[in-house]
Amino acid sequence: LPQDLHAPSRRTARGVEFGDRRDLDALMSNIAVAAPAHEAAPLIAGARRDGDRRDLVSPIDGSPLGAVYETRPLLCLEALEAARAGFALWSRTPAEARAACLERAALALENDAPRWLRLLQTEAGKTLDDAIGEWREAIDFCRYYAFEAKRRFQKAIALPGPTGEDNRLLCHGRGVVICISPWNFPLSIFIGQVAAALAAGNSVIAKPAGQTPLIAAQAVELLHRAGAPGAALNLLPGGGDIGAGLTALEGVAGVAFTGSMQTATKINRALAARDGPIAPLIAETGGLNAMIVDATALPEQVSDDVIASAFRSAGQRCSALRLLCVQEDIAGKLLTMIAGAARELTVGDPRDLGVDVGPVIDSAAQASLIAHIEVMNRTARAHFKGAAPSAPAGGYYVAPHIFEIASVSDLDHEVFGPILHVVRYRADELDALLDEIAALNFGLTLGIQSRIDAVIEHIASRRLAGNCYVNRNMIGAVVGTQPFGGFNLSGTGPKAGGPHYLDRFFVEQTVSINTA
Ligand code: SER
Repeated sequence: LPQDLHAPSRRTARGVEFGDRRDLDALMSNIAVAAPAHEAAPLIAGARRDGDRRDLVSPIDGSPLGAVYETRPLLCLEALEAARAGFALWSRTPAEARAACLERAALALENDAPRWLRLLQTEAGKTLDDAIGEWREAIDFCRYYAFEAKRRFQKAIALPGPTGEDNRLLCHGRGVVICISPWNFPLSIFIGQVAAALAAGNSVIAKPAGQTPLIAAQAVELLHRAGAPGAALNLLPGGGDIGAGLTALEGVAGVAFTGSMQTATKINRALAARDGPIAPLIAETGGLNAMIVDATALPEQVSDDVIASAFRSAGQRCSALRLLCVQEDIAGKLLTMIAGAARELTVGDPRDLGVDVGPVIDSAAQASLIAHIEVMNRTARAHFKGAAPSAPAGGYYVAPHIFEIASVSDLDHEVFGPILHVVRYRADELDALLDEIAALNFGLTLGIQSRIDAVIEHIASRRLAGNCYVNRNMIGAVVGTQPFGGFNLSGTGPKAGGPHYLDRFFVEQTVSINTA
């Protein structure tokens, strides 16, 4: 890894650390005066195009942020043609130059922290800690994939062979890659997908989430300024119809998608239904993530880790803890402790440094979470029901809740917000519990809290999740250190921020030369 990959971040498993209070005060005042972004529009080969105007509001308080001009379906084909021309240009650009573009983008992000943090707060409703973590991850992705591009592409891999024959393996970009990204990490996942595709020599059509187009538009502008040609990176803001339109196009060479399993399945079908070459889908979807806590676990550690994993980012991380499984013997005391810690959380305007839980992304998310809470109120035992008394009017707030359910199978869908479900198990039921978790068929993150190595190894050896966290929280995977992504219903792999991520973005070519 590049030596400086993580150096400036000061990120820890518990969040971002500030060495000096003055750093924080200066950052806060710079964020307050940073220039806001107001518009996002289709951008094809560097030219702004018209679209259907939709006003954007902040999830913090419903205040106006600006507007997105959503792509009209006819533009999809035009974007594909532009991206094909972009591919012809960009795929001939040496890997070192492509990597240099991403390194310039990383530096530009790093040098303009207040603007990005402001955008992450106002458009995505992030707390400062979450905004810094995400901004830092975006920088890490750019540098990591730049590093990987140099490692994989700079020169051909020499292969063994008989005397008189020279064999080499070369890697080339696939073509036009569609990047469809989510609202919960509107900067880091957006830029991570795009940076990987560009690093490998592909051209890109990016379709960001409908809730967070402003951040995406700014990120595209940043990458263009860093040297990505307009035709190699096109932006089509819009809804699911645009994603569907793009993935149905015959000339698409691959799709990188992060979002729901349902949408990933639709994309998979759309890709399979097309004529022409088979295009790979790289999908990172959700999880019904469990943490298993046995009777030997350290209660204070568990409490801290549960609170961070379930409620940080208002529970809107695909890695977040949804199902806490506690050994019966300690359940009473531990749940009282966790409920006490949850009571200390402040819900409200995420720009206030004292706030722990900001808004959820929009009114639809809020309504669906409130509906789930109502079902739980009727069918489950409440251990904690939070309130959001200081949250600004007009925002979309959901306070943390903790409900005990009778069995793992009672949780039949991913609840994407600050609602934690709990089940108890007896020591002799551990294997049955692991079978029930396996039967959910997700596989993104898993927490294990125990002080017995044999228990940890036994649980970890079941390979229930792509990211397994032991005696720590289960969120905030660090690029290059904790490559992130799951299997089964949680995704196709490869892992973002890992050494194999670029592999599906390129094709390989063997060249054999008779030198006799
Ligand atoms: N990568 C994020 C995390 O680890 C989730 O998307 O929390």
